[in-house]
Amino acid sequence: MRFLTKKIDELEADTFICFVWEDDESKTKLFQHLNELSNGELMRQVYEYNATKRTFCEIFKYAINKEKMLIIAGLGKKKDLTRQKYSQCVAIAARAAKNLSKNGILAMELTENLSDCKCLSDAFNMSDSAQIAICAARIGLYEFNKYLNDNKPKIETIEITEDNITDEIEKNAQIGVYTSFAMKFAKDLINEQAQIVTPQYVANIAKDIAQEHKLEAKILNKSEIQSLNMNAFLAVGQGSINEPKFVHLTYKPKDQTKRKIALIGKGITFDAGGLDIKPALSMLTMKSDMSGAASVLGIIQAIAKLKPQIEVHAICALCENMPSGSSYKQGDVLTAMNGKTIEIDNTDAEGRLTLADALCYCDKLEVDEVIDLATLTGAVIVALGHNITAVLGNNQNQIDNFIQIAKKSCENVWQMPILDELKDNLKSDIADMKNTGGRNAGTSTAGWFLSNFTKSENWMHLDIAGTAYIDKSNKETLSGPTGVMIRSLINYIMAQ
Ligand code: BES
Ligand code: MN
Ligand code: ZN
Repeated sequence: MRFLTKKIDELEADTFICFVWEDDESKTKLFQHLNELSNGELMRQVYEYNATKRTFCEIFKYAINKEKMLIIAGLGKKKDLTRQKYSQCVAIAARAAKNLSKNGILAMELTENLSDCKCLSDAFNMSDSAQIAICAARIGLYEFNKYLNDNKPKIETIEITEDNITDEIEKNAQIGVYTSFAMKFAKDLINEQAQIVTPQYVANIAKDIAQEHKLEAKILNKSEIQSLNMNAFLAVGQGSINEPKFVHLTYKPKDQTKRKIALIGKGITFDAGGLDIKPALSMLTMKSDMSGAASVLGIIQAIAKLKPQIEVHAICALCENMPSGSSYKQGDVLTAMNGKTIEIDNTDAEGRLTLADALCYCDKLEVDEVIDLATLTGAVIVALGHNITAVLGNNQNQIDNFIQIAKKSCENVWQMPILDELKDNLKSDIADMKNTGGRNAGTSTAGWFLSNFTKSENWMHLDIAGTAYIDKSNKETLSGPTGVMIRSLINYIMAQ
């Protein structure tokens, strides 16, 4: 998909998206332009159907003539619009436009809302709008159709129109373009079936990414992982015929490096639960247990294009969690890379074991901060549902900063605590700790477990188990993978 910034009279689209406010009658330049094309008929029609007074996310479709289609999308009342609501509205409008275009070109105008916003971080200008709208349009148009036989017409090009395209708009549009690509990349990889997406397959993709973007690449096979003593990670993978792989890509800025960040993505390519096998319904979506890995591999591609003065590491411990004669067992005691011992209480709590070794590995990289992204606990769904990601960590400044940026990136995050009290949940008689501790405070307990395997004082953990893959569509995204936290993490890195 291509994105172009254009003046109104340069547009080649045959399908247009215009926005209207519920409490402001004024018409946008694009609307006026299309009205002229229709000799004023658009305005007459729209008044007849009372279509300019759309409430929030209400859509009105109008055929300007035989070729040209218009989508009018309601932004609601000015004081109520947030960045997130704007993003939702664009996604819904783009989805409405999806099958209307014949020439595959969709034009969309930008919007700003600087007045009367509830809170400062909700306000956005035209350049913010460019970034938000590009991501949202691509979210709205996304589909995973490679296994579908019916081929509907597709939108290939999106023209972003604004009278005064400034350098800042162009710059933010670029961030939007690469961010939206990262999201599409991750969603495609998550959607793909687990019999294809094995650790080897992801490792090959990582190799290709490294080559294309000239990144440093370390791809470790089983014996190399063994020599690093990643025994917790290895135990999880040992029940599968598909061998584990460890991926480490590095983006290094050309001249100056202001800061170094390591991103770890949980990479269980299928989580059957191991010997503590999951019930059928819980297993149904477990091809998505590599959402964290797919996301960090998406993010590093965007970073390689955007070229910030930040060194970024993308790290994935990839394996399958399967029940078999060679599986790791309840009661096994594993020694992680840092020497700490773990008694296996439940083989379905495998993510934290793979992350433990990945966190230890990051201790050797001398980075300024470590962030892991993981579909880690079902408990986070009970606590926060499917539209809020949990953030935990050991540095309040880092967390506060990230929460701010997530909000500006149209994503919801909420902090959960890691307190010393949680230690008792994981007490073991024969090892330093157990890997699970009952049903209570599952997300925090997992966070406490992870905190034992990093020396970083700038470590943050994002539990995306509820948000990475959704069964029911939300305002922005249809059911399936969401690419959650990719926007927030790219903006977080770019803001350093
Ligand atoms: N991958 C799951 C967590 C998960 C659950 C992700 C639902 C997406 C949707 C993880 O490996 C897991 O199985 N966690 C267990 C831990 C428990 C045994 C302590 C869980 O949450 O049930
Ligand atoms: Mn599991
Ligand atoms: Zn899992």
